[in-house]
Amino acid sequence: MSLRGQIIAITGASSGLGQHLAEQAASQGMHLSIMARNHSKLHVLAKKIGGDVLVFSGDVTSEDDCKKFINATIDKFGSIDHLITNAGQSMWTNFDEIEQVDLFRKLMDVNFMGVVNCIHPALDTLKKTSGQVVVISSIQSKFGVPAHSAYSASKHAVEGLIDSLRFELQSSKINFMIVYPHWIRGTEMRQNALGSNGEKIGNQKRNHNKSSVSAEDCARNIIDALPKRRKSLFIPGKLKYLPALKLLLPPVFRWLIRSKIKSQK
Ligand SMILES: NC(=O)c1ccc[n+]([C@@H]2O[C@H](COP(=O)([O-])OP(=O)(O)OC[C@H]3O[C@@H](n4cnc5c(N)ncnc54)[C@H](OP(=O)(O)O)[C@@H]3O)[C@@H](O)[C@H]2O)c1
Repeated sequence: MSLRGQIIAITGASSGLGQHLAEQAASQGMHLSIMARNHSKLHVLAKKIGGDVLVFSGDVTSEDDCKKFINATIDKFGSIDHLITNAGQSMWTNFDEIEQVDLFRKLMDVNFMGVVNCIHPALDTLKKTSGQVVVISSIQSKFGVPAHSAYSASKHAVEGLIDSLRFELQSSKINFMIVYPHWIRGTEMRQNALGSNGEKIGNQKRNHNKSSVSAEDCARNIIDALPKRRKSLFIPGKLKYLPALKLLLPPVFRWLIRSKIKSQK
């Protein structure tokens, strides 16, 4: 099925994965609506892409901003076929090093409420188009990992939300696809991650391990999966075995996760 002419709304499009998703959606001939807080970065992207892109500056933690984003998209294009909730923020600090637990509130606000805030006002239009919600989650929605307690918890919360919505909206023909990427290269996630004092940790050099995936490849996988209306997408595919490993061989699972996190510190 061709994506040409379909309408896609993407949050967190000012950098990283979201930016690549926007570029690749546009290259498929989709009508594009993009949101993030950084107005100038969105405009640079829209100019690069060309054509009639809706640029909306807003914060996903604001219910009002998300409503306006969805309504502006419908006003401009008539409806929405695909909503990608991609905006997100991470952390790099152990729980007992966190100075104020407000860090949890901040990450829940972006990674969980940001998803709720965007899906809720989009439901009516998605019901009419039999559209789909694509949630950019993380393999950390399946298990927690060291130094990421609040991030893992926020992604678990999204998993629970989508499970419930699948039941409640079974007859609506809205598809919910959850994307579980590995570490992604070429994004600003690391520098935007919150440290023990609740502030962004800023630029830190690190070498991604070989199993990480580039933002461009990750975006290509996701855009390719849109017409297939999948329920889940693990990138790379072998990640889907990790939850089973946790159940079947817990000591091996824990050793693997500890060594992966150590290699990223
Ligand atoms: N990088 C990885 O290794 C990795 C792995 C698995 C999953 N993911 C997931 O992939 C998604 C994209 O992350 P990324 O790696 O591309 O990181 P990124 O380069 O830091 O991009 C994050 C995007 O989210 C936006 N954003 C953050 N807070 C926001 C807010 N309150 N309101 C609106 N937009 C907000 C940022 O834009 P503004 O700052 O302009 O608002 C930016 O466009 C996230 O959901 C992340 O959890 C990433």
